[in-house]
Amino acid sequence: MTRTRKPETSSDDDEDNNDENPAASTTAMRLIVPLQGVVQGRGGLILGSLIPCALFYFLQLYLKRHRPSQPDPDPPSPSSSNLPELHRSSSRSSLSGRGSIGRVRVSSRADPIAKPNESPYYIGLDRVLDDPYHSVDNPNGVIQLGLSENRLCFDLIEKWVSENWTESILGTNGGDLSIAGIAAYQPFDGFAELKVAMANFMSQVMRRSVPFDPSQLVLTAGATPAVEILSFCLADHGNAFLVPTPYYPGFDRDLRWRTGVELIPVHCRSTDNFTLNITVLEQAYSQARKRGVKVQGILISNPSNPVGNLVSRETLCSLLDFAQEKNIHIISDEIFAGSMYGSEEFVSMAEIVETEDFEKNRVHIIYGLSKDLSIPGFRIGVIYSYNDSVLAAAKRLTRFSPISAPTQRLIISMLLDTGFIQEYLDINKRRIQHMYDLFVDGLQQLGIKCAKSSAGLYCWADMSGLIPSYGEKGELELWDNLLNIAKINVTPGSACHCIEPGWFRCCFTSLMPEDVPVVIDRIRKVTETIKSSG
Ligand SMILES: Cc1ncc(COP(=O)(O)O)c(C=O)c1O
Ligand SMILES: *[C@@H]1O[C@H](CO)[C@@H](O)[C@H](O)[C@H]1NC(C)=O
Ligand SMILES: *[C@@H]1O[C@H](CO)[C@@H](O)[C@H](O)[C@H]1NC(C)=O
Ligand SMILES: *[C@@H]1O[C@H](CO)[C@@H](O)[C@H](O)[C@H]1NC(C)=O
Ligand SMILES: *[C@@H]1O[C@H](CO)[C@@H](O)[C@H](O)[C@H]1NC(C)=O
Repeated sequence: MTRTRKPETSSDDDEDNNDENPAASTTAMRLIVPLQGVVQGRGGLILGSLIPCALFYFLQLYLKRHRPSQPDPDPPSPSSSNLPELHRSSSRSSLSGRGSIGRVRVSSRADPIAKPNESPYYIGLDRVLDDPYHSVDNPNGVIQLGLSENRLCFDLIEKWVSENWTESILGTNGGDLSIAGIAAYQPFDGFAELKVAMANFMSQVMRRSVPFDPSQLVLTAGATPAVEILSFCLADHGNAFLVPTPYYPGFDRDLRWRTGVELIPVHCRSTDNFTLNITVLEQAYSQARKRGVKVQGILISNPSNPVGNLVSRETLCSLLDFAQEKNIHIISDEIFAGSMYGSEEFVSMAEIVETEDFEKNRVHIIYGLSKDLSIPGFRIGVIYSYNDSVLAAAKRLTRFSPISAPTQRLIISMLLDTGFIQEYLDINKRRIQHMYDLFVDGLQQLGIKCAKSSAGLYCWADMSGLIPSYGEKGELELWDNLLNIAKINVTPGSACHCIEPGWFRCCFTSLMPEDVPVVIDRIRKVTETIKSSG
């Protein structure tokens, strides 16, 4: 037995050579295998592997010399040496030898990503890009309510940036330009100064209820890579995260595309004001286990996107209990923590973990400046973790998505300008609140009610009374009418995996107050056709 085994392994080692001409190598193997058996039987392990290798080498050399020459349609340039020429012609002939001339393919991982996305979330966003509304230049264009972007305080950001741009990036303190500080390689996981400034900003946004330690913080180019890095670090291909619904449609892309992780919806209902029910969470967990799926964690967004409600202290504790019992992770996406308008108090997962007796190393927080400082174009995201292994891996993974050094320099100055930051947070909160009131009142006049919320850049509107049939089909028909007749892009609940049809997320912070009556009028047209036809 051992005799026949040995040669097999040595043939494995020669896989690269075999590749060149399968027929020839089969002949070679017929020759080598018995020979090797003989040699090895006499006792020489070294001889046993040397001789077949040498034989194989000479055979390959022979085959190369006597190969029929192929016409080369692309003659090598005069400057090229003989060696690359040999490689090129030999690789060509091996290709045509197999007869495998066909269309070149992308990987099976890239293939589904390359295909057009059929989700109404993306179709709507594309429609706005093609035909964006402008009150003067394009008054019949599509109005964007499908992207959670805050344009209410661009004036404040614009003023600060225009005044402080050069100084904060190049550091004119004392007149010395520190070009090496931005042009040279910098740590990919973020400048230490930015980590300190960010930890302080996060604490400020969360009412100073909890301190953040800069050493537990990793910076990424937006919250999107932060989410992906955590998904990569906490779960293997085919593992799953439990995600309360309705959830941010981007999660289906950001957590899954490259990692192959699955998201399992945990349905929340309007009768519970879309709050999480732990019994339902338990059910989703055990159903996944029955399917043989390994659940590696829970992903929540708090304040929630798309509902805009907050996760209560009690629910956070229950979630931590649950995670501890099942030995899984928790990711808390708190990217809207500073975009609060109601009177309710936001409680960070960090606060619970710091004050109560829970195991910390399974808890990870996502943050960023795309929402609370309304600078999604700057790409500033945060992973805040209590797990050293996760932090170590995440720091290395940031090399694929670091924040550029000039951007970091600018943001360090902005965050350290405490007067500006305080003013910004106050004004921003007032402006979001004002827009929320205008928008929700407008919908109310059309008989459309919104779920109770106190944070975020959107409201979660119940249009179930307007859908032609109760179900996803009816919901999508209304969505289509809103997009094509009213020319407003909203996100249907089905894109957020909402189990109840007829709910829509409407982001109102990319509008100006004067746009609200235009939007409401456009929706009215659709509701009136429905009422008259129905
Ligand atoms: C809950 C949530 N997480 C993450 C992101 C991604 O943020 P970023 O634009 O910083 O990548 C968003 C953006 O909409 C979001 O709503
Ligand atoms: C930004 O510019 C303004 C106006 O020149 C100045 O008062 C302020 O101190 C600057 N902020 C920083 C952080 O440099
Ligand atoms: C949902 O919110 C409404 C309005 O705030 C409240 O009256 C009701 O008790 C809440 N329902 C549940 C199940 O929490
Ligand atoms: C959770 O859902 C179950 C049914 O699935 C229900 O019986 C229970 O009352 C709910 N719990 C809470 C706290 O709402
Ligand atoms: C971090 O989490 C991993 C699982 O992803 C776990 O194996 C490890 O023990 C944790 N590390 C620490 C320092 O707690």
